[in-house]
Amino acid sequence: MNSSQPTSQTLLTAPRPRDVQVVEIAPQTTVLRSRTWERLKFEVEYSLCQGTTANAYLIQSDRTALIDPPGESFTQIFIQALQPYLETAPLDYIVISHVNPNRMATLAKLVEQLPQLTLVCSRPAAQALRATFPHWEHRLQTVCSPYDRLDLGQGHQLRLMPMPTPRWPDGLCTYDPAIRMLFSDKLFGAHLCSDTLFDEDWRKLEVDRRYYFDCLHATQARQVQTTLDQIAPLSIQCLAPGHGPLVRYSLSRLQNDYRQWCQHQQHQTLRVALIYASAYGNTAILADAIAQGLLQAGIAVESINCELSDHTHLAQAIETSDGLIIGSPTLGGHAPVQIQATLGVILTAAAKTKLVGVFGSYGWRGEAIDLLEEKLTDGNYRFGFETIRVRFSPDTTALKTCKAAGLQFARQLRQQKKKQAPRQAITETQTNRTEQAVGQVISTIGVVTTCQGDNHSGVLTTSVSQASFNPPGVMIAIADTPYAQRFLQPQAPLVINILKEGRTVRRHFSHQPQPGKNPFAQLSHHPAQNGCLILDEALAYVECTVQSWMPCGDRWLVYARVEQGNVLEATGITAMQHRKSGRQP
Ligand SMILES: Cc1cc2nc3c(=O)[nH]c(=O)nc-3n(C[C@H](O)[C@H](O)[C@H](O)COP(=O)(O)O)c2cc1C
Repeated sequence: MNSSQPTSQTLLTAPRPRDVQVVEIAPQTTVLRSRTWERLKFEVEYSLCQGTTANAYLIQSDRTALIDPPGESFTQIFIQALQPYLETAPLDYIVISHVNPNRMATLAKLVEQLPQLTLVCSRPAAQALRATFPHWEHRLQTVCSPYDRLDLGQGHQLRLMPMPTPRWPDGLCTYDPAIRMLFSDKLFGAHLCSDTLFDEDWRKLEVDRRYYFDCLHATQARQVQTTLDQIAPLSIQCLAPGHGPLVRYSLSRLQNDYRQWCQHQQHQTLRVALIYASAYGNTAILADAIAQGLLQAGIAVESINCELSDHTHLAQAIETSDGLIIGSPTLGGHAPVQIQATLGVILTAAAKTKLVGVFGSYGWRGEAIDLLEEKLTDGNYRFGFETIRVRFSPDTTALKTCKAAGLQFARQLRQQKKKQAPRQAITETQTNRTEQAVGQVISTIGVVTTCQGDNHSGVLTTSVSQASFNPPGVMIAIADTPYAQRFLQPQAPLVINILKEGRTVRRHFSHQPQPGKNPFAQLSHHPAQNGCLILDEALAYVECTVQSWMPCGDRWLVYARVEQGNVLEATGITAMQHRKSGRQP
């Protein structure tokens, strides 16, 4: 066979060349998807090998803005695809949802071609751009608060919302009310390349979406939940992520999935704080790969970029985690000061029973890694894996080592916890098991409000359930205290405010009214028809009147008929109480 002729094998596997898919997706709005059908980079997030798309969005109104031009590997074909649009209207703004060296290369080309450009980004992104391009100072427009706007005219008044996370401290989401589209950058994406623009086949995307979430967001679940809360009030018709298909058909499904995946992290029994600093991104890549090993083994991981985290949060994470893994680059023979400070906190405050691990990227001697290992060894901490040292950028082998280290750390942590569990007498153990079993009964979290004249009160409850269907009625368990008398009266009015997952309303209430405290003072509310208060942040509420009651152990069981109710927010999910023990109210 002539070796220059393609074989059937080569024909079958020949990859499609990179290209840019250009489609108008809404009035005056075009997506330019730079596509590759091959694995783009070696990082673990691309390892499903489905290719990816780097989505940029162009809004052409009275003024023109481009959101998120792609990285260096697409610069040339992207600018070619953009060119016809630039001829009709010059570009006024580029909105940058996060910066990285790759994207800077494309930005530099665009700025060279379009000298009038203004770059709109968060404060940390502006700092990074300033450091590389000091002469861009005059063209940087910094977003400071979630209420900042960029008015392109004709209703395209872009709302710019900083959304910092440990991985993208410069993160920014942009909402266009004219087309009800949220440009969500790293949120709600998937590394997947296809001709299909939207998510009409969203069930087929589930694996890719979950994998993407696990790689990019599982270790920053707390911040992702905050972001979900921030975008919840927006009226969204389309989520426009930085990678993969646009989300139009599974809008609430995907947001709910994100909430549940975040909560899943919080319900794991073992937690690891993965603390690092990374000036050029190499140590951060190692951290991500270690996290994948831990997550795969069912350990909750909190990533903490200690250059951005405040001291209180860091100290709390160190105290509450079962294991601590710390990573550092070496710069000028030292660890960055934030790493040194974190090490100080660990050595003085972290229990010696905590399992530890050390890793880092270095150039020639790796003094910072040595320092971390030495101090933790002297402090008598036990190591969950052998210290990982990687010169400069990690390759695939280094990342495999990191992931394996994460898995090993998880194994050791479980073994250690088993050994530390106190040996209990059989009867005591059985009692605990029964309590744990009862604790598996999940209940809705609500705030029950009552009123006597102008005297309003509200208590947190996890003990509401539907008791009858026709007529609709609910059952509430109330602690046997003098306060219960409010409920033990025929026709007593009450409102059950069913809380929304992710909101912080519950912290204003306790299981008993607190003397001298008026929780309603800090919360927006209005009266129901029966006079009791409705919390505006509730997911739903029902107005009820008490019908009957009976004593049950340490509670009163109160049966109340539902008179009317309403759902205040169509897209949220009900807050649930997950308990470890049936003794916990
Ligand atoms: C200004 C500077 C100083 C550095 N000093 C050291 C050093 O003293 N010892 C060493 O082993 N590596 C040194 N390096 C190499 C870095 O540790 C290496 O680039 C590493 O990959 C950085 O990790 P990061 O990307 O997580 O910041 C230095 C690098 C720079 C840019």
